[in-house]
Amino acid sequence: MKGIILAGGNGTRLRPLTSVTNKHLLPVYDKPMLFYPLELLTRGGITEIMVVSGKEHAGNFMNLLGSGREFGVRFYYALQDQAGGIAEALGLTEGFAKDDNMTVVLGDNIVLDDISERVSDFRGGARIFLREVESPERFGVPVFDGRGNLIRIEEKPEKPRSRYAVTGLYQYDNTVFQRIRELKPSARGELEITDVNNSYLREGRLDYVFLKEPWMDAGTVESLFEASRLIRERSASRR
Ligand code: G1P
Repeated sequence: MKGIILAGGNGTRLRPLTSVTNKHLLPVYDKPMLFYPLELLTRGGITEIMVVSGKEHAGNFMNLLGSGREFGVRFYYALQDQAGGIAEALGLTEGFAKDDNMTVVLGDNIVLDDISERVSDFRGGARIFLREVESPERFGVPVFDGRGNLIRIEEKPEKPRSRYAVTGLYQYDNTVFQRIRELKPSARGELEITDVNNSYLREGRLDYVFLKEPWMDAGTVESLFEASRLIRERSASRR
């Protein structure tokens, strides 16, 4: 299983915090944001990890993370020339993933669950991780039929049809790259990860599980602040 952290994007929702630095380098309590997705993957037992970032701050990413030796893993780096969406960034990792399956996490997602079992029991197709949230309209939202079957995912719907968010943690087999090649840009001009997930779902190859621990996407001022508060609270209760 390969690990992939997608840390591109312009961080526009965090300006002026992101005017001269990258969102993923900002602090979440006592660590750079990027450490949280990284530690999620290493805790899950993944030892080969590719980080995809924009060109502008790539040097800072490398300075911060190095070869991976300090973390007991090996890092690989890829560059996204322009912010073209999460699915486009994932497409850049094809040569790294080769025939392996991959666990993909967005660089601004703070996932506190232990995913080691999910890493070892993944057998192909795709898997998404859901979490109940207060404002599903900010996220990808799963739609269930009357019998509780997942029937589609809607990206940032005005009227969410469930209380769940599709979090920024995903598992894919390597058919994902062909699916990405077939995507068309969405209304916001990006290749959407939700369209990738719907393509697996249409073939009955999308599995979903619920996260148990708190989950946050630290991409807005409010959620960044909340994420720091949450991590501080949890480290205080462990002391
Ligand atoms: C992206 C995905 C969305 C997902 C979210 C999780 O949204 O498009 O489906 O729920 O990440 O963080 P973005 O943060 O790029 O707007």
